[in-house]
Amino acid sequence: MTAAPVPPSSTSSPSSPRASTRPVAIVTGASRGIGAAIALELARAGHDVALLARSVPDLARSAAAVRAAGAQALVLPTDATDAAAVGASVRAVQQAFGRIDVVVANAGVYRRAPATAVTRADLELALRDNFWSAFHLIEACLPLLRAQRRGHVVILNSFDAKKGLPLDAAYAAAKAALASFGASLRQALRADGVHVCSVFPGRVDTAMVGQLEVPAISAKISAERVARAVLRGLRWRRAEVLVPWHIRSLWWLDVLSPRLGDWLVRVLRLDGRERAPRA
Ligand SMILES: NC(=O)c1ccc[n+]([C@@H]2O[C@H](COP(=O)([O-])OP(=O)(O)OC[C@H]3O[C@@H](n4cnc5c(N)ncnc54)[C@H](OP(=O)(O)O)[C@@H]3O)[C@@H](O)[C@H]2O)c1
Repeated sequence: MTAAPVPPSSTSSPSSPRASTRPVAIVTGASRGIGAAIALELARAGHDVALLARSVPDLARSAAAVRAAGAQALVLPTDATDAAAVGASVRAVQQAFGRIDVVVANAGVYRRAPATAVTRADLELALRDNFWSAFHLIEACLPLLRAQRRGHVVILNSFDAKKGLPLDAAYAAAKAALASFGASLRQALRADGVHVCSVFPGRVDTAMVGQLEVPAISAKISAERVARAVLRGLRWRRAEVLVPWHIRSLWWLDVLSPRLGDWLVRVLRLDGRERAPRA
């Protein structure tokens, strides 16, 4: 599933972007799924958008949707786990648009890893793809956001960070690290006028969990629904967004009693079941 890294390039846009008078967003994992939906929703809300991911054809498709919504799109093929490549792409956005207002750390990879058999390699991969990729983007954008004394950082997390599931040990650990980092960052950046919002979706109907069968109680929601929730989170400067709303009840019950939470995960079969790939 991991494509070879592609060096950053700003030449894949059909027309060269102009310095923007509109707010500018940078979105990782913008080639498909939730990231593509957020990029489009931001474009509809009046942002020009820089789209980062590895798959060039998918990025081009996503950028076409952004442009069709009347926004400028800058395509930057980037491996989000490569700090130097991310730094170069952030500089390319600054050069092209002259500003960055919304930073969306969305790129991530989900792999099953049962807690009883998880390996160091599983954990390192999960941290690379879900923690470090977000950190590299935030680290590269932070000096600009702090100098501007305004802006938003959106971190795509997962409900797994609120309640680790038995079969998701590595992914949940990486997302929990990211949740903690996001909470620290939110408080630290308050005085700088920079807003940090962590987003915790339940299951979402994207390629990431295409093989996963889930019970009706945690039915997959659309990527568009997550994107609309993100935009509301930006508008109201929310600290955290949980979507769909009803997953809060599981979280609250778990805060009240983690053993009750464990029991609910078991009886509701929230781990889901992976379908065998078609022969
Ligand atoms: N789907 C769910 O049920 C669900 C639930 C909760 C949270 N989330 C979180 O939401 C975010 C988006 O997930 P999704 O469901 O939209 O997944 P997806 O459909 O698999 O899309 C993942 C995106 O991340 C990009 N990506 C992955 N590794 C990358 C890397 N090293 N460098 C650059 N881009 C990379 C992919 O692009 P390329 O492959 O083209 O690079 C793609 O655009 C993730 O952080 C995920 O953990 C998902």
